[in-house]
Amino acid sequence: MSYDKDWARVDVDTVPNIKVKPPGPQSLALAKRAGKYMAGYSSQAQLFPVAFESGNGVILRDVDGNEYIDFSSGIYITNWGHCHPKITESVVEYTRKLQNCHDFNTEIKARLAEALVQITPGDLNNVQLWCEGSKCVEAALNVARMVTGKHEFISFYNDMHGKTLGAQSLTAMTKASGPRAAGSFRVPFGNCYRCSFKLKYPECGLHCVDFLREAITELTTNDVAAIVVEPIQGWGGSVIPPDEWLPKIRELCDELGILLIVDEVLTCMGRTGKMFCVEHWNVVPDIMTLGKGFGNGFPVTAVVYSDKFNGMLDGIKASSSYGGNPMACAAALACVEVAQEEGMLEHAMELGNFILKKLEAIKVRHPLVGDVRGKGCLLGMELVKDRDTREPFEQAANMVYQKAFERGVSWIPAKQNLRMSPPLIMTKDVAGKAVDLIEEAIAETEQELGIQ
Ligand SMILES: Cc1ncc(COP(=O)(O)O)c(C=O)c1O
Repeated sequence: MSYDKDWARVDVDTVPNIKVKPPGPQSLALAKRAGKYMAGYSSQAQLFPVAFESGNGVILRDVDGNEYIDFSSGIYITNWGHCHPKITESVVEYTRKLQNCHDFNTEIKARLAEALVQITPGDLNNVQLWCEGSKCVEAALNVARMVTGKHEFISFYNDMHGKTLGAQSLTAMTKASGPRAAGSFRVPFGNCYRCSFKLKYPECGLHCVDFLREAITELTTNDVAAIVVEPIQGWGGSVIPPDEWLPKIRELCDELGILLIVDEVLTCMGRTGKMFCVEHWNVVPDIMTLGKGFGNGFPVTAVVYSDKFNGMLDGIKASSSYGGNPMACAAALACVEVAQEEGMLEHAMELGNFILKKLEAIKVRHPLVGDVRGKGCLLGMELVKDRDTREPFEQAANMVYQKAFERGVSWIPAKQNLRMSPPLIMTKDVAGKAVDLIEEAIAETEQELGIQ
């Protein structure tokens, strides 16, 4: 199956189209102008200060007229391509009709809630709407506190849950971010390439889950409301845990009476080839957060939670200035409908497998590449100085990132990791071209660093 719609059709022979070496003069002029006042750019933007003008489907155009293959979907957001006509029209309709009425009900809100609970797993039939991933993670923590009466949370090394205090406290933080909120603990993720216990899967018997059990006893005050987890780590470097890992954590939560919050802000809406990533392992969380691809660019996020909490959350205040505004509901409803109508989940899986195969072949040819991984269209590679020691090679990753971008591939660096998240509507020929350009960038970097 392939995506074949007029609005997003791309002639593979014409993309990418780099007319001026990027970042070109107009991009650099904007970097100077905006950068005089704007602060705190991501490493994605700092390492390659290009300025964009427009996007269509899987193609991004910069202010110098260069066209890139979008291998990042913004940052795992534009799952259905830039400016998908149905999503755009839905937002435009409500931009003209009704932009905000606080949290009063609207027809479009009711339609979104009805459509959303049809696709969420299990009994996750209660919806709160927010407008940022961090905020919906905070809201999920609040739900967990209220229904359990407990106050501690456990997440995982290298998880990313957001930049507000509660969410950030469950995230990899720097000294500059200050101390974590009290009652926030982290333990090793199911990262077999970089096992904190230096064990090998599967002989390890998932020791990391045993350690989690021990941590609950030894680190906490036995007041754990929930374990908060990314089903696949995005920011942490596209890290995919072993198949039994999340089911085992679910079992542990059930045994100990702890809630499971799965943060699907990055992995939802088909990103990994299933509507929600937890479906790969048949895990039903108690609470789940959705963002990014949920609005395809429009800032709308959601918390969904179990029917078993019905009647336990009286008095919870889940309104906000923008959460569930009519434009946001229109965007999210259109995304849910597009996900269902266009049958792209199967394509996302096939496309991801195609890209992963190509990455595996690259790994064979290039010693710089220590590991490649992917599920659906959430993919990545990790660069190392030495395949045996697995010493991370951040400098090389930054070089490869920049060199591929110069060739016309927009993607995402993260320390020694390089991350790929193409729009799910990309065709294999275009994706194949992007991966070939990435390989060229790796080869050039190896040559410059004297690696053979
Ligand atoms: C898994 C996950 N949760 C939460 C967030 C925070 O989302 P936002 O940046 O919209 O606040 C992110 C952001 O990247 C994320 O990847």
